[in-house]
Amino acid sequence: MISQKVKDVELSGIRKMFEMADEDTINLGLGQPDFQPPEGAIDAYYQAMRDGHNGYGSTYGLEELRKEIAKDYSRYKSNLSKENVLMHVGATQAFKVTTESIIQNGDEVLYPEPGFVLYDSQIKLAGGKPVSYPVEQRYGFVPQIEQLEERVTSKTKAIIVNSPSNPTGGVFPEDEVKKIIDWAKENGLLIISDEVYEKMIYEGEHVSFLGDYENVIMINSFSKVFAMTGWRVGYTITRKDWIEELGKVNYYNIACPPIATQHAVLHALRNEMDFVKNMTETFQERRDLIVDRLNDIPGFDCLKPKGAFYVFPSFDFDLTAKELAMELLDKGMIATPGTAFGPTGEGHLRFSYANSTGNIKKAMDIIEDMVKDLN
Ligand SMILES: Cc1ncc(COP(=O)(O)O)c(C=O)c1O
Repeated sequence: MISQKVKDVELSGIRKMFEMADEDTINLGLGQPDFQPPEGAIDAYYQAMRDGHNGYGSTYGLEELRKEIAKDYSRYKSNLSKENVLMHVGATQAFKVTTESIIQNGDEVLYPEPGFVLYDSQIKLAGGKPVSYPVEQRYGFVPQIEQLEERVTSKTKAIIVNSPSNPTGGVFPEDEVKKIIDWAKENGLLIISDEVYEKMIYEGEHVSFLGDYENVIMINSFSKVFAMTGWRVGYTITRKDWIEELGKVNYYNIACPPIATQHAVLHALRNEMDFVKNMTETFQERRDLIVDRLNDIPGFDCLKPKGAFYVFPSFDFDLTAKELAMELLDKGMIATPGTAFGPTGEGHLRFSYANSTGNIKKAMDIIEDMVKDLN
């Protein structure tokens, strides 16, 4: 009785590794900061409930928060106002609403591979056809126009992009973003830009896909930036007329985003940017540590990511990514096989450095020992 499109999607491979581990295992598999949200945001959450913000709210989200987000994002695009912003239950639900709103009659959607686990399945669930394009280490994990060109057909409706990227940590430079936008314009494609790691940048500045091109839906979230993955607050920014349409789907999907959490996020956005700065500095130190250690281990080759909190080294052993991850699990640590992010992730592992320096050091010692044993 279950539909074929639901049968065709699988649960994420990241979860599978997680469920195999015991309590003492060092977990470099997790895609969430090892921080608690800012104290002030927790207080604001509690206060919002005490103040009676416990009923239904607007389908579009809390007005003050939408205004604040529009102000925050006007660094990248001018003339934004609350009518350009729609609130969601995390970026995950923002994708659900976006894909459902744009895909029809088996439209094709390009998405990055290796890429975040959501894309392929959400396209399928919306009745579309996912078409992957490669993001490769040799190009700094930045998409190449020639490779996009080879995959575009008359049925292609949209392209999903993700910078800073999960799982690769790749960050697209300004000229590459421009090239992709120009290419999308030429081909009449809509751009869906996943920018959930936009504030976690270690070198240079984030380049948003929001700008002069009007057919862009930017998806974002407060999950990572304020270490509140469980609070489930995300948003989209796009054209006002599209927000109206997406809002209808939001209503039939969730009625409205939870109200008290939005008050807490509003507080955080206005008052807690130091929290973000400090957390990002901590991640940068850990990034430097993990990249140096990995590159000292024979058989690993690791680029220095400019954003997010993942490294995605390639390896040169006679093992598949899954086998290598299982070896490590056996020795007491979790890494995610690159293939959890699509078949082209073979030959890579993803390590999240959202973990303590002590644990990262222990994990690197485990890998060093494993490599000695392998040789
Ligand atoms: C690239 C990317 N996009 C979207 C999400 C989903 O975020 P949210 O917690 O807001 O649903 C994640 C979470 O890991 C992610 O890494």
